Amino acid sequence: NHFSQSLYSAQQTRDIDKLAIEQLYQGNGYALMKKAGYALFQFASSLYPEKCHWLIFCGRGNNGGDGYVAATLAKAHDIDVTVVQIGETETLSETLQGEALHAFKDLNKHKNTRIISFESFKSSSITTDDGSYLIIDSMLGTGLAGEVRGEYQKAIAWINQSNHPTIAVDIPSGLSADTGRPLGTAVQADHTITFIGINKGLVTGQAKNYTGTLSYDELGIGSDIKSQVDSLMCLLSSESIKLNLFKRRAADHKGNSGRALFIGGSDGTSGAALLACEASLKSGIGLLSALVGNNAVTPMLSRSPEVMVRGFEKDIEKQLPDLLEPANAVAIGPGLSTAGHAKRLLTDVLKTGKPTIIDADGLNLIAMHPEIWQQHGHGKCILTPHPAEAARLLECSVEEIESDRYLSITKLVDQFQCTVLLKGSGTLISNNSNNIYICYLGNEAMASGGMGDVLSGLILSFLAKSQDCIESTKYAAFIHAMAGESASQQGIIGCLPTDVISASKLIINETL
Ligand code: APR
Repeated sequence: NHFSQSLYSAQQTRDIDKLAIEQLYQGNGYALMKKAGYALFQFASSLYPEKCHWLIFCGRGNNGGDGYVAATLAKAHDIDVTVVQIGETETLSETLQGEALHAFKDLNKHKNTRIISFESFKSSSITTDDGSYLIIDSMLGTGLAGEVRGEYQKAIAWINQSNHPTIAVDIPSGLSADTGRPLGTAVQADHTITFIGINKGLVTGQAKNYTGTLSYDELGIGSDIKSQVDSLMCLLSSESIKLNLFKRRAADHKGNSGRALFIGGSDGTSGAALLACEASLKSGIGLLSALVGNNAVTPMLSRSPEVMVRGFEKDIEKQLPDLLEPANAVAIGPGLSTAGHAKRLLTDVLKTGKPTIIDADGLNLIAMHPEIWQQHGHGKCILTPHPAEAARLLECSVEEIESDRYLSITKLVDQFQCTVLLKGSGTLISNNSNNIYICYLGNEAMASGGMGDVLSGLILSFLAKSQDCIESTKYAAFIHAMAGESASQQGIIGCLPTDVISASKLIINETL
């Protein structure tokens, strides 16, 4: 599922739907709904080929319509089906409209179709853990407005309590198609099949906890229709990265393969420096210098003798010009501390105007002393906050950052006018042009300390090689996530940052 795709808001997918119906289906919306219902049927029956009883939960909008079409097809294939209608009224057919009503009527043509209200379903013999049932969540799609209300809430609670495998249609009911936030509550599906265009809410923040594995079917809409709707967001894939920037040529030497300076690591956080530097070395840096806490010097040299390492001595600012001068990229922050010398180092680095990655304590310093950025910040910086660091930078809560990650990164880019990478599941990357790239790769194996230091090290070596902030950040995020996936093949638990570094070397050599 390595999509190379544009992403759309709920409104944009509605626009694409409309354009497709007008331009490809001569106004016949039901033909498009039938295509979606057919794709859903195929998807469910290929995932669960063994005969199980399908429980199709249908809402009152078009998302429910897709469910009715799939129910009709399932009946035709002798699959046991119960359609559970969600909505307040018993005479539901009166409240259905347009294509969904059409689909409902077609379903009713089948004799013995079991269509019941949620009330009757709850008093039926079907329980949350008996038999082999498959749930299809066809309740709420892109038409969800505001917090989930009424019977939908109860139906979602029933589905989430149950042990039955669940497929969500288009989007898990309750999940915001725009932000990926559950609006009060949302279905936790095992699989989601989404149609026509991928909603931006499906790929970042908490979304993966609700979508399960995400599959996409364009339903043959094609790029002519989709290009009529502008999307400034796309999923990061190897095709969307300028890989040429990072290739070695036959006659290259260490001097033109990137010269970098890493600054970080202090008492108690020396490992951050070791991980970042090792990641830079294994991802192709030509020459790497490091200015680290004194306690990190010996471990650094014994682990990575390739690094030209210096300790923070008295008057370290005096050493800095000599170290900075040859560097064509700098990374500052991992394990740095926020002490006085750290503040001075950050200020001096920023004054050079060199391409610079600012991470961890570098970001904390900017949040603590906004004047550092006001006076010396510049567009060749890359800020790589996790949500808590982003909250410090924007002076808000982590919940606010996560409630709309797209809005948060836009605010960060507006405020800092440089490249920003907002970490977390569905990492977001953006720079001044307001394009947002979303890294859908990577997994929960990467939820451990030190992974971010590895990312900083990867960006550093790519930035030193290319001098291109946005491309280096994209490439590093891509490699980091792919390496995380690869390293976790032996197990999600116990996957270490050092495993990710080893895997990243292989993946870089495969992609370049
Ligand atoms: N709580 C409860 N019900 C709600 C809420 C809410 N917060 N918001 C909307 N509804 C109800 C509406 O009253 C309406 O009956 O949900 C229904 C609309 O839901 P959708 O089916 O998501 O919207 P619609 O625009 O009809 O269809 C869009 O159609 O192309 C398919 O699956 C595709 O997701 C897409 C869907």
